[in-house]
Amino acid sequence: MVQQQHPIILAIESSCDETSASVICGGKVLNNVIASQAIHSKHGGVVPELASRAHQQNILRVVNEAMQSAGIKNSELNAIAFTRGPGLMGSLLVGVSFAKGMALALDLPLVEVNHMEAHVLAHFIDEPKPSFPFLCLTVSGGHTQIVLVNDYLNMRVIGETQDDAVGEAFDKAAKMMGLPYPGGPLIDQYAKNGNPKAFKFSQTVMPDLSFSFSGIKTAFLYFLRDRKKENENFVEKNLNDICASLQYHLVQMLLHKLKLATKKTGIKEIAIAGGVSANSGLRKAMKQTAEELGWKIFIPEFQYCTDNAAMIAMAAHYKFLAGKFCGLDVAPIPNMEVGV
Ligand code: KG4
Ligand code: ZN
Repeated sequence: MVQQQHPIILAIESSCDETSASVICGGKVLNNVIASQAIHSKHGGVVPELASRAHQQNILRVVNEAMQSAGIKNSELNAIAFTRGPGLMGSLLVGVSFAKGMALALDLPLVEVNHMEAHVLAHFIDEPKPSFPFLCLTVSGGHTQIVLVNDYLNMRVIGETQDDAVGEAFDKAAKMMGLPYPGGPLIDQYAKNGNPKAFKFSQTVMPDLSFSFSGIKTAFLYFLRDRKKENENFVEKNLNDICASLQYHLVQMLLHKLKLATKKTGIKEIAIAGGVSANSGLRKAMKQTAEELGWKIFIPEFQYCTDNAAMIAMAAHYKFLAGKFCGLDVAPIPNMEVGV
């Protein structure tokens, strides 16, 4: 069989609480349709059962919209791609099963994609693109990793969190302050008008390139408890300063390890990816550090920071070119690891 060099691929993402579909043609992303699930905000976090039900309700509409807006017919597709993991089992199952059904019906090959690798490969959707090898700080609601990226399909984690992810720390701190889920973007908003040096929080110091966010989370909990004893309106009155200080600490923790990683590897091309890479404090601090230390940094467009199918499509494009397909017996892997 002659290998198609300009494949047209439909990609589906359903690992957590966004149902998304994207069509990619010859490595060019044509669209990125996303249906977000507002239902979780009143529960203070993603409820897996509700997430999988919402995926079931949304997936056909999202896929149809992606195909129609791309102007691509089913008969023109060369493959169907999907997120195999990591993610929530019930959510992954919806995307995996839908992709399998389509592949079977249209007699097309299937491409499985690792969600965390796709966050890294989101950097190849638009210019400027990093060159290999580069480091990628992947920060989301479920992960905090420093990834050494040697090639599109050759990457490994060189540092990661030993407990909570940084996005989780943002969201849980927000919840403690009575803010709705996901709290990360809200903390970012309030922080813009606050003093980052107003409050200090202790944190666990981890060896080497490991992260830990459970210590600062607990310190934050006790900080709020003690201050609220003195003044029950403490949070309302100091929201901007609290958010700015917390964000400052979390961003510094990320940058500290990233600096260490650049020293260890000698690599100065640095990318950030994942939902928390949308954080304006992190983006600003990355730009400042880049100027100071001569880093070349890559920050994705907002729509490609949080979960989206365009990044799944991008990863699928490279897997397709490498001839990496999977069978119809494929199953989701909720704890799928990078580079394995
Ligand atoms: O990558 P993502 O969309 O989903 C996961 O794979 O987890 O990341 C979601 C995470 C949430 O924790 C959310 O609060 C966080 O990214 N997030 C932010 C911002 N935007 C999204 N955290 C801080 N500042 C933001 N602007
Ligand atoms: Zn993600």
